[in-house]
Amino acid sequence: MNYESISFLRYPGGKGRMLEFLVKHLPSSTAITGKYVEPFVGGGSVYFSIQPKKAVLSDANQDLIDLYLGIQKDARNVWKNFVRFGRTKTEYFRVRDVYSPRGLTQKAARVLFLNRTCFKGMWRHNSNGDFNVGYGGQDRRWVINQENLLQVKNAIRQVKLLCSDFEEVIDNTNEGDFIFSDPPYRPNEKEQLHSHYVGKKFMFDDHIRLSKALKRATKRKVKWALTISAHPEILALYKGNCILKIPRGTGRKPGSTVNDSGEVLITNYVKPERGI
Ligand SMILES: C[S@@+](CC[C@H](N)C(=O)[O-])C[C@H]1O[C@@H](n2cnc3c(N)ncnc32)[C@H](O)[C@@H]1O
Repeated sequence: MNYESISFLRYPGGKGRMLEFLVKHLPSSTAITGKYVEPFVGGGSVYFSIQPKKAVLSDANQDLIDLYLGIQKDARNVWKNFVRFGRTKTEYFRVRDVYSPRGLTQKAARVLFLNRTCFKGMWRHNSNGDFNVGYGGQDRRWVINQENLLQVKNAIRQVKLLCSDFEEVIDNTNEGDFIFSDPPYRPNEKEQLHSHYVGKKFMFDDHIRLSKALKRATKRKVKWALTISAHPEILALYKGNCILKIPRGTGRKPGSTVNDSGEVLITNYVKPERGI
């Protein structure tokens, strides 16, 4: 099976490289009786691999959610607008700093263009909330095509998309739902300085808030899985849950792969063999 079949976004911290391992330890689409809920969806690699029947995908990054909403609304038009942008560095800065999109599909095309042509696919915003990543070139722009966007559209046609903080999304789950959480983290760092995702940083206090929200979900009999750094202070938040080392993952340098990821998969269920 090709676990990266729908990979239309460049996403820091994306789970593409560890999908084979992850998917083995997550429930299959048919084993999820309620909704599949992903509160930190990013590039959505896990969602696209599982393709559950009912899903809520959420993220605090409004640009990202607008991109999904634009594709959900009209993928062909997003593609049409995407190919209209020029191929120069000057054009990149015009689209980044001057161009003002009208409507969802133009917004989506702009976000996709910036993601595919910015430096290393980073998402970084300044204190005014403006995207401020430098130019990376055109090479990664044309590895996607209209067909990829149509596949994404098809895969998210019935999905509920939200731009929200994770806590509210997790608190809205019920028995039968399944939560897959992939919060921002860097292996071996306690204080998270992830300003490359959204303006607001994800700090250790947010990890405490997340662990408490997942504990409340467990009390409501909601099953969940979480990928996280194997830092002892993070692991201490999840005592009593199942913890598995993730063998292969993303290295510290964007785009690199390492054999010991320094990351773990934590679940509130025992090894599912595709069920829970
Ligand atoms: C590690 S990435 C997810 C990557 C994704 N699993 C993939 O495979 O592409 C973490 C995501 O959390 C989002 N995020 C950061 N703080 C958040 C918050 N407080 N609530 C919800 N999402 C948040 C970021 O915008 C980012 O998309």
